[in-house]
This record gives sequence, structure tokens and C-alpha cells, in this order.
Amino acid sequence: MAGRISQQFIDDLLARVDIVSLIDQRVRLKKAGKNYQACCPFHNEKTPSFTVSPDKQFYHCFGCGAHGNAIGFLMEYERFEFVEAVEELASLMGVEVQREESGHGGARSSQTIAQSSDLYELMQHVNRFYQYQLRKNVRSQTVIDYLKQRGLNGEIAKDFGIGYSPDEWDAVSRQFGQNREQSDQLLRCGLLIENENGRRYDRFRDRLMFPIRDRRGRYIGFGGRVLGDGTPKYLNSPETDIFHKGRELYGFYEVRQKHKKIDKLLVVEGYMDVVSLAQFGVDYAVASLGTSTTAEHLQMMFRASNRIICCYDGDRAGRDAAWRALINALPQLRDGVEMQFMFLPDGEDPDTLVRSIGKAAFEEQLEQAMPLSEFMFDKLSQEIDTRTDAGLSHMANEARQLINQVQAGFYQDMLKSTLARWLRWDEQRLERFFTSPAPKNAWKTQRSVLKLTPMRRAIAIVLQYPECALDVPNLEYLRALPLNGSQLLIELVQQIRQKPDITTAQLLERWRERPEATALNKMASINLEGNELIGISGYNQELNDILASFIEQLLQQRYDALLQKSFSQALSREEKQEMLQLQIELRSS
Ligand code: UTP
Ligand code: MN
Repeated sequence: MAGRISQQFIDDLLARVDIVSLIDQRVRLKKAGKNYQACCPFHNEKTPSFTVSPDKQFYHCFGCGAHGNAIGFLMEYERFEFVEAVEELASLMGVEVQREESGHGGARSSQTIAQSSDLYELMQHVNRFYQYQLRKNVRSQTVIDYLKQRGLNGEIAKDFGIGYSPDEWDAVSRQFGQNREQSDQLLRCGLLIENENGRRYDRFRDRLMFPIRDRRGRYIGFGGRVLGDGTPKYLNSPETDIFHKGRELYGFYEVRQKHKKIDKLLVVEGYMDVVSLAQFGVDYAVASLGTSTTAEHLQMMFRASNRIICCYDGDRAGRDAAWRALINALPQLRDGVEMQFMFLPDGEDPDTLVRSIGKAAFEEQLEQAMPLSEFMFDKLSQEIDTRTDAGLSHMANEARQLINQVQAGFYQDMLKSTLARWLRWDEQRLERFFTSPAPKNAWKTQRSVLKLTPMRRAIAIVLQYPECALDVPNLEYLRALPLNGSQLLIELVQQIRQKPDITTAQLLERWRERPEATALNKMASINLEGNELIGISGYNQELNDILASFIEQLLQQRYDALLQKSFSQALSREEKQEMLQLQIELRSS
């Protein structure tokens, strides 16, 4: 076990690093006095309240309260663990991490990392075992025939580390789980299942195994395909300490290995699609793992490449999935990035398509992919009758909601001009429209009818559309507000994050024995009218609106407290500055 990282080393590292350039490489900063500012990367805002101080080597957001040093920034922004953040900084500075001699430092963070790193290692061993079984198992020939029949060659199978899980109940547990402790580890990795009687058995049996690697190449999970037509077609690793579906993309590590600079990333649905595209030389595809494309996925991809093409079925489900991806992408569009959509003909997936038409024709189709703006206005105009004035005004309002999610700049301007063309308005009229107050949202009017407070409405939304909660920022700040239900909402959101594909029913199940169960059941069944048009994305938007109103309340609360204080005593310079900042933020929201 590696020793803990010495405090001295961490101090030295923080003394050397420049937080301004570290952050500026990820979030474009503007100089403001002796500090730097940007729109906060940790919550949604239109005027910058995120401040970086070169003197203090510290960042702070007046809006959401996020703050920290360079290590904290990497942990929050890149979602690194503590040790990973230190390692990253050290490698940026070109120094080796220094650890203390003994392995029993007992530091909280190195302890949990040590345990996780054991899990990573175990997963890697198990993957090697599965790969070995692909060649040596008694059923090898059948498996290899299946691969061949699917058109995959040995080389690509090796590139992606594809293996085979033997047709036995205890192949993995015999090999790797001889004592209780090892068996517990296998359970933690999701490789074993425990039944009601406490008996443990292999999760994956007689399946083709696709290992899933994280962005650093560590083995974190598996997808296992049945050999033939059985069900379920794919079995996947459950969420574990090291595997979070909403955050990982199958094939991402492999793409990064292949390309120093990634010109474009293609998002597809299946493991098989990624692998077979790669075999045909389309070696820049990734797949989300049975969830839709989350904001986190998009963030990860936009950091790696400026062009993302989402490839979906042309059917209703595919279009809905594409629309969700679009909604998640809006806040992340910045100058120089491009997002496009490609819809496949009925009955085809990227795997079958590339096989039938080949790489060149496939890439030609990619070049024809629909730009985001086209897809956005196509969808809006399909669902709204734009031949009437009422329809046009409806369209204008819907489009404004979406366009306002995009940061000011090239993208926003472009969407606005497209909207202007649709409406046949000139720029001035459009600008007036964008600066006039938005009509009352459906939920605001409805609130009075159903007597739902925004908090209750937010809870009802996450219960009924758990997916919406995947994109919301950390809600800890809610605790500072005197609102009923904050705790409940925070907990619900955590439960959804732990299991991104959770259903309403599964969510309710977790509350069965708790006093809130009755209230939650009621909330899960109320009729949430008001967003029929854009469906889940409408609720997504509404949830964000409600949360934004909470942040506003929080800012107001802080402002009032400072104001109150100023009546009885003189405020410090920092406090005065904070008040000023709050005033600006409150006025703009
Ligand atoms: P598909 O049904 O499109 O499978 O599911 P596929 O990837 O094209 O595989 P082949 O060509 O039939 O072998 C797309 C993705 O949805 C998830 C998997 O991630 C799969 O790659 N899925 C599908 C599951 O998790 N479980 C299932 O039972 C089916
Ligand atoms: Mn397929």
C-alpha cells in the first residue's frame, strides 16, 4: 500500500501552481480588477459571479457558494478524488508525488483510494481471466464463431479487451473469491450476486464480455452479451463505488488512446456499434451505457473534442433521446464547438450500416448530419402549428426558453437569427422580445390551482421524471434555506444519482418504511400538467427554474442579513464588496 501524501508536498504543490491559469484552461476567465471572473461552471448563470483570486490562490462563487483551491477545483470540476487531483497537479508541474514512508498514515482520503485501487486491480484481473477464457474455455469455439458471425476479428476483440464469462455459477468466485474478504470485494465490484439465502454466485455466465474502462483506462465495469437470442440481451455491471453509468462512456478511453487530438466524437447506442465501427476504421465512437446522454457525458466529450455527432434511431424513441441530449447540451455550447445529429434509417444501427455501406459512405453520411439548430427548429415546428399567429407566438416563447440556456456569444446569436427567420421578425423586434419579461411559466400559474409550493413541485418532478435530477448541480446549499422539503429533495436527488436509470417505483420503494412515504406517493401521482410540448425537457427546464429561484432566495437572504448587520455596525471591506456583488446578481436574476 502506498504511503499517504505528505502535507509538505501538498503545500509545495499549491505554492507552485497558478490557479488562474489552471482554471483559465477550463473556464475562460476575464480580468476584473485584481481578480478574474467567469460565469460559474458549477451552476447555471448569465452574469459572472465566479471569481478567482491570484493573491489568495482561491476561487469563490457568490452565486452558489462553490469555493476552494487548485486541488478543490480539480476535484469539483474534473470530479477527481483527492489523490487523483494531487497527482494531476503534480504531473502538470512535472514533479513526482512524494509519499510518507509508512503505509499506515491513516489519512481519510488515501484510505478510501487504497480500497478503490484494490477494486480497480481486481477488475483488471477478472478481465484478464475473461479474455483468457475466450481462448481456452471448452466453449471457446462457439464464442469465437459468434464473434466471427458478427463480423468481428481477433485484433479488434483484443483492442477492446473482449472476453468470455464461462457457463458456470462460480467460475469467478472460485478463481478470485477464496476467502470471505475477497468474496466481499467481488460483491462490491458487482461481479457476484448474493441471493436471499446469502449464497453468492457469478453475475455473468456464458456471455461475451465487454469491459468498460474509465477515462484513465482503469477497468470499472462490464457489459455482457448473451451468445444468441436469449434475454436479457445485455447484462451490465450495477453501479458500484468505482462505476457510475451517468458519468462513463464506453469506448472513450480507447478513442483517446487512438487520437492525440480528437477532431470529432460520434455518440452511438451500443457496445457492438462502437466496436464494429472501430473495426471499420471509424475509431472515434463512444456509447452511453444504457442511459441517455447526460450533461456529464457531454461535458466530458466537449472537453475532449469540439465536435460531437449524436447518432440515433430515426424512430420516435431515438428522436426523444436526441432531444434530451440537445437540452443537456445547450448550457455547454460555446464558440467553436459543434453538435450535430444523425438519424438512422429504420431497422439499421451503426453496426449494420457501416457493414453494408462501408467506411467512406458512412462518413459521408456523418458529414450530412443535421446541425443542432436545424434539429431544434425542426422539432419545434413539428410540434407547433406555425401557420397561425398563436402558433408563432407559442414557438417564439418555447424557442426563447431554449435559447436562453445557451451562453451569450456566437451560438446564442446564431440561434436567435434562425428564430428571427422563422418568425419573419427583424433583429430589433427579436431583441425586444428577448429583453421583455418571459410569460408566466406554466408551473407558476398552476401552482395556485394545485397549491403546490415550488419545493413540492420540484419534488414531484424528480419523483415522476427522475432523469431530470441527473443534471442538477449539488443541492447542499438548500439546507441554508428555511424551506420545508429541502432535505427530502436533496436525498431524492442523491438516490437518483446513485442509480441514474432509477424508475419512480424504485425510488418510492426506498422510502417505504419512512414517514414521508405517504406524501411522496401522493406527489408521484399528481398530474404535472404544463409541459406537454417538450415533455421531459420541459420538466428539466422547470426544475432548473425552480432551483434558480431558490438560489435567488439564498442570495436575498444573505443580502438581507448583511443589510441588517450594516444598521448596527460597520461592514468590513469584503462584506461591502459582497453586498455590491449580491446586488448585481439579484438585479440580473
Ligand atoms: P441494442 O439492443 O441496440 O444492442 O442496445 P446492440 O448494441 O445493437 O447489440 P447487438 O448488435 O444486438 O449485439 C443498445 C445498448 O443498450 C443497452 C446496451 O448498452 C446496448 O449496447 N442494453 C440493451 C442493455 O443494457 N440491456 C439490454 O438488454 C439491451
Ligand atoms: Mn446492433
